[in-house]
Amino acid sequence: MPSERLPLYLFVGFGLFSLFYQTIGRNLWVQVGYGYTLQPLSDFPYTCRRLNDPSFEACEDMWLSEGTRQLFLSCSDSVARKEWLPNLGRLNATGRSRKDKLVVLDIDKPAGNSFAHRTLATPNYPGLNGDGLLSLIAITGLENNAVPGGAIDLYLNNQLPTVDPSTGHPVDNTQTGANATIEVFRITNPQTATAATHITTYHDPHIATPNRVAPMANGAFYLTNDHGTNRVGLWHTLSPIIKTGDVSYCPAPSAAGVSNGACKRVEKGLAMPNGLWMGRQDGLLYVPSTASGRINVYRPSASGDGEVNLIEEIRVGVPLDNISEDAEGVFWVAGIPKLLDAMPVFDDPLRTEGVPTSIFRISKRNEKGRTGYVILKALEDGKGEVLPLVTTVVHDVKTGRLFVGSVVKDFIAVCERK
Ligand SMILES: *[C@@H]1O[C@H](CO)[C@@H](O)[C@H](O)[C@H]1NC(C)=O
Ligand SMILES: *[C@@H]1O[C@H](CO)[C@@H](O)[C@H](O)[C@H]1NC(C)=O
Ligand SMILES: *[C@@H]1O[C@H](CO)[C@@H](O)[C@H](O)[C@H]1NC(C)=O
Repeated sequence: MPSERLPLYLFVGFGLFSLFYQTIGRNLWVQVGYGYTLQPLSDFPYTCRRLNDPSFEACEDMWLSEGTRQLFLSCSDSVARKEWLPNLGRLNATGRSRKDKLVVLDIDKPAGNSFAHRTLATPNYPGLNGDGLLSLIAITGLENNAVPGGAIDLYLNNQLPTVDPSTGHPVDNTQTGANATIEVFRITNPQTATAATHITTYHDPHIATPNRVAPMANGAFYLTNDHGTNRVGLWHTLSPIIKTGDVSYCPAPSAAGVSNGACKRVEKGLAMPNGLWMGRQDGLLYVPSTASGRINVYRPSASGDGEVNLIEEIRVGVPLDNISEDAEGVFWVAGIPKLLDAMPVFDDPLRTEGVPTSIFRISKRNEKGRTGYVILKALEDGKGEVLPLVTTVVHDVKTGRLFVGSVVKDFIAVCERK
């Protein structure tokens, strides 16, 4: 039985555990989508269309380079996600995708119904035993102006199978979990580049079940471990309920390079923390949680030691996914209001029926010297007509367009203002 089905049964029998009800009951309602009213796409001032192209398969995450007007996507193989998606306990290493890739979309160059795009080669990345393959989940980037001519540094979370060091062959990953790493690639001449250069690999006990990375200009970064350090088994399955997800911090590399083992956990007790984001304007860390429908806002300590203080909880009330920030400092986050309906899509990624997805716009407001957040449902596809099972959304301020990616579906979508 695929292990992520297990929570379904656990949820059903859950009412019995009245002892736990006070602490987790609310999260449960959030996950089931109880009492939530879905609206159709036609209620919103957007027209959305699918971009069907083999390049846009299973693009779990995207990052918009405002400087170069290019959208970077981490894409994979929809059908293979069924076998290999360690974040959801799918650990059949033999079945992992052999075509994960970095795709770049020129958002100012429409091409037919879509946009000009290209795939970046990764020639000096070794992969496993020299196969050169990546196993991608999230992507985020930094415009690196320290490099003459400009460069983009991409931070990818990669989940290669764990191997037996003596033979180099994958072991049974259902017993060990994947060998998660953070890979940094640099793209010079980003406007025209057709390749990305592998710079470094971070491998650390606190990079265990990474969901996404939030890098800072000095090269240090935060990451969420969506299942904490529980890579496999019952504790992995139960993690969203018993809240073992965490935020960890890895310091900037020293002159001698990356020192593996230097990362540390800075927050714990989270219910499946997802794609976090470092606010470009306020320097605050935004951590959405899928299982609680909340975004925690943290202030990193001024001393630079990586510690964080919780300063705000934004309650959205819908299971949330990866968050992003647009050029005006407005946050965009994808929601999956009926999370349990979404689970079968992972078994049958190409099924035609959609699942409800929502997109929230979260803006900051200063009131009486205190910062508050205004939550607006910007868009919802309550019938699952056009949008894929959303795992990320990016807003382009210049055109008002929304780009919508999906960890499993074989297309992305774009929504234009009506
Ligand atoms: C693992 O994936 C391979 C390739 O897709 C498939 O043939 C095999 O049946 C899968 N194994 C299990 C245990 O599901
Ligand atoms: C959110 O993004 C991360 C990486 O970007 C990915 O692992 C995750 O599956 C995404 N969505 C959900 C629902 O977890
Ligand atoms: C995990 O990945 C790291 C970095 O690529 C590598 O050095 C290490 O040997 C791998 N370990 C296992 C057990 O697969």
